[in-house]
Amino acid sequence: MAKQNKPEHASDTGHEWDGIRELTNPPPRWWMISLHASWIWCVIYFILYPAIPLIHDSTKGILGWTQIKEYKEAVAENEAIRQPYLQKISAMSGQQILGDPGMRNFADSSAKAIFGDNCAGCHGAGGQGAPGLFPVLADDDWLYGGDFDTLVESITNGRQSFMPAQQGVLDEAAINQLTDFALAASAGKATPEQFALFSQSGCSGCHGEDAKGGAINKLGTGAANLTDAIWRFGGSREDVLRTIRYGVNQDGPNTRVAIMPAFNGKLGPENIKMLAVKVHQFGGGQ
Ligand code: HEC
Ligand code: HEC
Repeated sequence: MAKQNKPEHASDTGHEWDGIRELTNPPPRWWMISLHASWIWCVIYFILYPAIPLIHDSTKGILGWTQIKEYKEAVAENEAIRQPYLQKISAMSGQQILGDPGMRNFADSSAKAIFGDNCAGCHGAGGQGAPGLFPVLADDDWLYGGDFDTLVESITNGRQSFMPAQQGVLDEAAINQLTDFALAASAGKATPEQFALFSQSGCSGCHGEDAKGGAINKLGTGAANLTDAIWRFGGSREDVLRTIRYGVNQDGPNTRVAIMPAFNGKLGPENIKMLAVKVHQFGGGQ
């Protein structure tokens, strides 16, 4: 055994503890080769890449590699893959995109980040809205419409609805009776007398005689459906009273604010089309 552990070229140092002798055995060949390969690799790396930190900067390396450059190249590569799709999107109608599963999926997944950056802050990541503040985009209750072209229009030019405040127009009793009407209508229990008051008070001009509202069109007619259980601004008596008393997008601190910003200056037409696909795919698209 002892002989095996002592190659010919190794000499004995003469040190021995508890039967263990210290030799001048050289390290194995593979180990030495790796050691030299490592430092040679370090030198090559230092020459090719940014490596040695200086006071404000570092050595640049002869390859000219930077993280930013690598990132930009990756982005350009990605853009080159996306370009043909974007050109197709721009040439296709909404119906064509929605009818083509490949393009629909491309648009839907491309719009995910755009929606996250521009829309989710108000409408929620899944279009679930924010009670009392921002409308749900994932249901089929539309104020303007859930067909492709109307969605594109809503996103491109923004929206700002309008309902006159009734304070100072109607007396307190009527405002309270109309609040009762709206609550009853939502539960499907409004009486003909209540509908008559609703009509006399000028509400039906926008909400319709049946209070079912309808998509707001270019003329500005149309309004929220008051006969469903969906409340944009809250369905407690206090909430409904406030909406009727102070109106929507009127003056004063208590009015309901409902302003959808326009995105035509910020997002290109292809991005807006892809967002319309995404909103359509939330489930309420018409
Ligand atoms: C600052 C908050 C805000 C942001 C950001 C925002 N929205 Fe809106 N959005 C609103 C409000 C408020 C309304 C309701 C406007 C009204 O009632 O007239 C609305 C309405 C809409 C409608 C019409 C809904 C209907 O019932 O017809 C669509 C579609 C829509 N938004 C999509 C988007 C998309 C897509 C984005 C991102 C590009 C976006 N919104 C960004 C606040 C916002
Ligand atoms: C000029 C048209 C117009 C008139 C007149 C009008 N409304 Fe409205 N109303 C609207 C619009 C538009 C909305 C939806 C606003 C939004 O969601 O951005 C609305 C919303 C409401 C809401 C809130 C619904 C919800 O989901 O939270 C109530 C309640 C309501 N109206 C009741 C009335 C009553 C009562 C009258 C009569 C005194 C009336 N409105 C007159 C246009 C009108």
